[in-house]
Formats: sequence, C-alpha cells, structure tokens
Amino acid sequence: MKNQNNKPINNKLLITLSLLLCFILFFGMLSCSEEKPQLQSNATEVRVDSVLNLMTLEEKVGQLVLYTGFWEFTGPVPDEGNSKLKLDNVRNGYVGAMLNVNSVSSIYEAQKIAVEESRLGIPLLFGYDVIHGYKTMFPIPLAQAASWDASVAKTAASYAAIEATASGINWTFAPMVDVTRDSRWGRMMESPGEDPYLASIFAKAWVEGFQGNDLASPQTMAACAKHFAAYGFVEAGREYNTVDISDNTLFNVALPPFKAAADAGVATFMNAFNEVGGVPATGSEYLQRDILKDGWNWNGFIVSDWGSIGEMVDHGYAEDLRHAAEIGINTGSDMDMESYAYEKHLVDLVSSGEVVEEKLDDAVRRILRVKFDLGLFDDPYRYCSEKREKENILTNENLKAARDAARKSIVLLKNEDGLLPLPKENIKVAVIGSLAASKDIPLGSWRAQAIDNSAVSLLEGVENALGKPNVTFSNGYRLTEGERSFVYELNMVKDDESGFRSAIKAAQSADVVIMAMGEDCWQSGEGRSQVAPVLKGSQLALMKEVLKVNSKLIVTLMNGRSLVIPELAKNAPAILEVWHLGSEAGNAIADVIFGDYNPTGKLPVSFPRHIGQIPIYYNHKNTGRPTTKAHDAGKVFWSHYTDSPNSSLFPFGYGLSYSDFEFSEVRLSANNMKSNQSITASISLRNRSEITGTETVQLYIRDHVASLTRPVMELKSFQSITLEPNEEKEVYFEINKELLSFYRSDLTFGSEPGKFSIMIGNSSKNFNTLDIELIE
Ligand code: NOJ
Repeated sequence: MKNQNNKPINNKLLITLSLLLCFILFFGMLSCSEEKPQLQSNATEVRVDSVLNLMTLEEKVGQLVLYTGFWEFTGPVPDEGNSKLKLDNVRNGYVGAMLNVNSVSSIYEAQKIAVEESRLGIPLLFGYDVIHGYKTMFPIPLAQAASWDASVAKTAASYAAIEATASGINWTFAPMVDVTRDSRWGRMMESPGEDPYLASIFAKAWVEGFQGNDLASPQTMAACAKHFAAYGFVEAGREYNTVDISDNTLFNVALPPFKAAADAGVATFMNAFNEVGGVPATGSEYLQRDILKDGWNWNGFIVSDWGSIGEMVDHGYAEDLRHAAEIGINTGSDMDMESYAYEKHLVDLVSSGEVVEEKLDDAVRRILRVKFDLGLFDDPYRYCSEKREKENILTNENLKAARDAARKSIVLLKNEDGLLPLPKENIKVAVIGSLAASKDIPLGSWRAQAIDNSAVSLLEGVENALGKPNVTFSNGYRLTEGERSFVYELNMVKDDESGFRSAIKAAQSADVVIMAMGEDCWQSGEGRSQVAPVLKGSQLALMKEVLKVNSKLIVTLMNGRSLVIPELAKNAPAILEVWHLGSEAGNAIADVIFGDYNPTGKLPVSFPRHIGQIPIYYNHKNTGRPTTKAHDAGKVFWSHYTDSPNSSLFPFGYGLSYSDFEFSEVRLSANNMKSNQSITASISLRNRSEITGTETVQLYIRDHVASLTRPVMELKSFQSITLEPNEEKEVYFEINKELLSFYRSDLTFGSEPGKFSIMIGNSSKNFNTLDIELIE
C-alpha cells in the first residue's frame, strides 16, 4: 500500500453538497458575526444535516452500530456476526464504527469499504481502549493521579494519541473518570482515585491530551469519558454490581469529573453497566438526557458499554432485546456496542412509530458531528499512514516521556532514618521477589498493544544504575501459577517457601535489600474484584525472614489499587508505592531509589488499616456521633470500630520527599466575606533540608452547617512548590464563592452562609486550620 493520505474518495455527491452548503453558510454569516468558533460549529451543523437528509432509515440506524473487530475481544465473545457478514454490513452502510481493529492495513481495509463501496461513503470511527498508552506504556491511570500533576496526564494522553493514531485509531475509550472509594473493585487501577476535585483536574488533562487543540489533526483522537455514571460505587466493590447512590453523592462526588470532561469538550461519553437507583445507566433518561445532554448542554454522542443495552434484559428492566433497543434510544444511548439491539430492532421500532424518528436523528447527528470534527469527511484515511505507523511508535522520545511520567507517579510512603536515597557507589544490593524480575507486570492491566514482556523490570533498572556485578537477584516467592492473564484466587500460590533460602542468602551478603511486593497486574482491571485486597502468597512471610538478616530493606510496592498493608507498613523501614508504572518502570524506580529524582507523588486514594474499613475515604461525613464525650469516657456509643481506629493507614494526599518541609500556621486576609468577595489564605513553606525538593501544598475546606450535610473536609485546590535547600516561600490560595459551593437538594450549585474551616497542609491528615465566616 502506498501513502494512503491522498486516496480519492468516492462519495463525491456528498462532499460537493456539504461543501457548497458550508460556503453559503460561511459567507452568509460573516456579515452577522465575527466569532469564528460559532461559525465553524454552525458550518458543521449544516454539513451534518446535509448528510442526514440523504440517509435512508436503515442507513441512519447503521450509524448507531458499533462492531468489534475480529482480532480482540474486550467483553463477552459475541455469537453474532462473522467477519464476512460484518464487512457486508459496512458495505451496505449499516455500520457506524468499529472497535478492536488494530493496524493501519486492517483499518484502511474496512474504511475503504465504508467510504468507497457504501452508497453514501460515510467514514467509520475506529475505537480502542487506549487507556495509558498504546505500545509505549505510561503508568496506569491511578498512578498518574498519584503525581498530582495534570501535565503528567496530559503528556501521557498525548503520546498515547500519537501512537494510537499512527496505527489508524481515531477514538479512544478513555479517560475513565469514575471516582471510587473501594479497593475491592479491580477497576480502581483505571480511575483517578477517591476525590472528585483531583479526578476533575485529571479528567480535563486527559481529554486535552487525547484531543489536543484540534480534533482534526492526524495526531489526536476523540476521547470518551466513562462510565456514566457512578460505576465506581458498585456495592461491595463487586464488578458489575448494583449502585444505589443519593443525588447528594452523585452530584457532589461522582459527577464532577464527568462535568469537567464535558466542559473540556470531550467528544463522546460511554454509559455504564451498573444501575443507579433501580434504573440501568444505559437506560437512564435522567443521567443521559436530563443531566448530560440537556443539563450540561453537551452535544457529543453516548456509546453504550459492551452489551449494556442488551443487559437491560438481565437487569430486569427490559422484556427482551427489542424493548431494550427502544429504551436505549429513547433515553439517549446513541451508539450500540455489541448488543446488536439497534441493528436488529431499531428500523422496525421507528417504522412502527414506537420510537419517534427525531430521537434517531438526534443520535445520528451527534455521531456525524464527531466524524466531521475528526476531519474524516475531508480525508477518511487521515489516520492511515504506514509511514507514521513505522516511525511514531515506541520511539526514544515516547519512552523518555514514559519514564518521566513514571517517576513522578511514585509515592514515598516510609523512609525510616533516611534509608533512601541510596548511593550509587560502593554498594552491593540484593533484589528480591518475582515481581522485581517481571518485564510484563509493570505494563499493567488495559495495556492496548503493548508488547508482552517489554517493560524495564525493577531488576534491570537497578542493574542499569549500579552495574550488574553489584546486584544479586533471587525470586524469593511465586505469586501465581498457570495462566497469568486469569489471576483468580485459584491461581495464587499460597504457602510456597521453596525460594526463601536463596533469597535470605542474597540478603545476607548485600548492603541493602530491595524487595518487590504487591500484585500481578492481572489481579486488577475489569472483572478483577477481590474480597481481600492484601498481599497474597508468601510475600510477607519472606519479608520478615529477610528482615532478620538484613534490616536495610526497601520495599517497592507494585499494585493497581490501595492495598491493606499494616504489617508491611510496621516492619519495612522504607516503602515506595510504585504501582504498575509502564514501559520504563524499572528505570523510573531506580531514578527514585538512587536519588536522581526526589519523590513528589501523593496518594490519590486512602490506604486502609483493615479490609473491614472499606469503603474508606478521607472526605467522609461527620455523623451524629463523631469522637465525643462518649469516647472520652471510654463508652462505645460513637461511630467507630472497637477493634481498629477509624483512620486510614496512609491517608489521601500523603507522600514523603527526600527533602524535609515545614509549613506555618494559616494566615487569612480577612475572617469573613460576602459571596461576591474573596479571601486570600496563605502559609509559608520552608525546605529545612539540604536537598532541593517539591511539595504539594493542599487546600481543604469544611462547610460546618448546610442544608445538606457536608464532608469533614474536601480538597479544593493544590499547588506544587519547588524549594531550594533552606528556601522559604509564601503559598497563596484564593477562597471564593465557588470553593464554598456545593450541589443542594434542588440540584443548584451554590454557597450557604455560615462557618467554614480553611485547612492547608501536605496531606488530608497533616494541616493547619483557621475558620472564616461567609456572611451572605
Ligand atoms: C467494557 C469496559 O467496561 C469498557 O470500559 C471498555 O471500553 C469496553 N469494554 C470496550 O472494550
């Protein structure tokens, strides 16, 4: 195949017509207004309508059909549709988009049929789960959120877009912006964590990274905010389970990141498998129309999740697939992923008048709009360049960006007696643990087209830093046996101590031990809920044995969720939370271990002391019986456990640095304000160490009395401050009405007069406070 960018397009009638209309509109409107964005969007609307007007009912329904390709399945394997049938449907104009088609040549082949053989030549969208990289893997999304640095997310997404589009993809099913408080849920690894504000910052950054400034650029792709909505609140953390959530929590916790994605111009949304209060999200008019499309004035399209339209039958909400199709289209699910409900029943439903054609037209318009915005009508092959596919993927530049993102995502949890950073000279290190040698696990779950075993392992990273002769390795424990990609409880190796002897020997003769502990990446991700998010197998037992012979133990914790690690936290003198960091994991971890990078990460989720505390989150309510006199008098009648403190082991926002930061009391420019005024709150931050470092200063606010109860604290802002040794800086935050506002029971967003606490510090547990009064 030659350079395909200049292939002729066969849909001449369509292009001529839409261009003509576009010109008429453009020059007609120049006289009325000078504002370009409006002109452009109106021009798109005219072009969209010009196409819609040419379409038959069958072709309209076809735009709502999303087929999986024939190479990869990311949901239950469909029994419908062999590849020939699917391509015939593309040829007939009965397909709007495909997913899981990977490579320029396959995408070109399918696009060519759509554009050159179907009656109207409407181009296809090609979607794929490009979650944290395409072939160059960046840290899993939860880890990226641990950077508390939006530029990490934006950069990761923009490199993912460069690589995915170089392979022909023009639509990613990301970002996933489900706030979650439950580490039993395997999809915590895909989420930006437990906090709506942090998640909103990341939602915006991911959308900007994937979509860039110009959706029509061949290096950017349409993003998809998912899963709308409240999927992170599945009961008991069990995958696909029921969600029952109040409007208070829905609006103030679950929805803000989706709103941020919509405001950032995300092209598409995906609905969710779960029900919300008795109504499947896929059939929820409230979520899809009232809130998203009408409430937020958002004009992209909603794709169903895999089979979720059909699953409304299993939910007990639709009688059969036909009924599910009717509910789906009426409530605003615009595109059907792998339910075959629209393909089978929508023509009939519209012909019989059971579904009004305006609903169908609205969905088609939304889908065509995205195709126009991507520039597919101008050049449907703009993403099909074999040259780019060869040159733009897995480049040194991409890997360098992945390493930078990875080291910024690491969180230093513990560093007794300044064990870290280690010197690079005159040191013998024992690296222990099968996780340390794995070149595959750091790639993480949801790894798109990553090449298996292509990550830099922790062992390799340490060897690269110190030279091989200074490093000994021992597997120590085994995590799994059998098929790794199906890591069930059954595949976990429980009490295997066969590797202990050699690990202990290695530890004995080393100056320092670096031990990798945690999870296989396939223990987290979709369908990987667990009742016990703990360290499995013999890892802890080995750690204790190692400690007996060498007390200089650094644990690197690799995991896709917050784990319950009280014993580890108590015994190991140094702990680095390194998640699943992607292609450059080992090098990035070594950068931190040997002090080439001073850690900056902060936890985006609370780490529980005990499984029984889950769901645990810092922004909880006060309850009617917080710590009170009953507690002081040793009585039981207050909200607590009798066998554990309420607090987390490592709190949200927590993370150490090699520098030593100290912050002052809070200072305020005034003690009270009206809602049209603002107050400046500040602290001074000092680096009292000899190492340059960066601290993330966090602002939390508490609204003490309101028409709906408010959390004990909520993150409202944060700033990254870099200080030279012994340098001091004043850090300012503006407190305004927006920071004091919340969604009330009438769903208006506003503030209410009264007392607010202003808390500034370096985690949700370590801060100073002053109160202010909002007068009116
Ligand atoms: C199901 C997942 O829930 C969703 O996130 C993903 O995008 C689709 N499968 C497609 O793979």
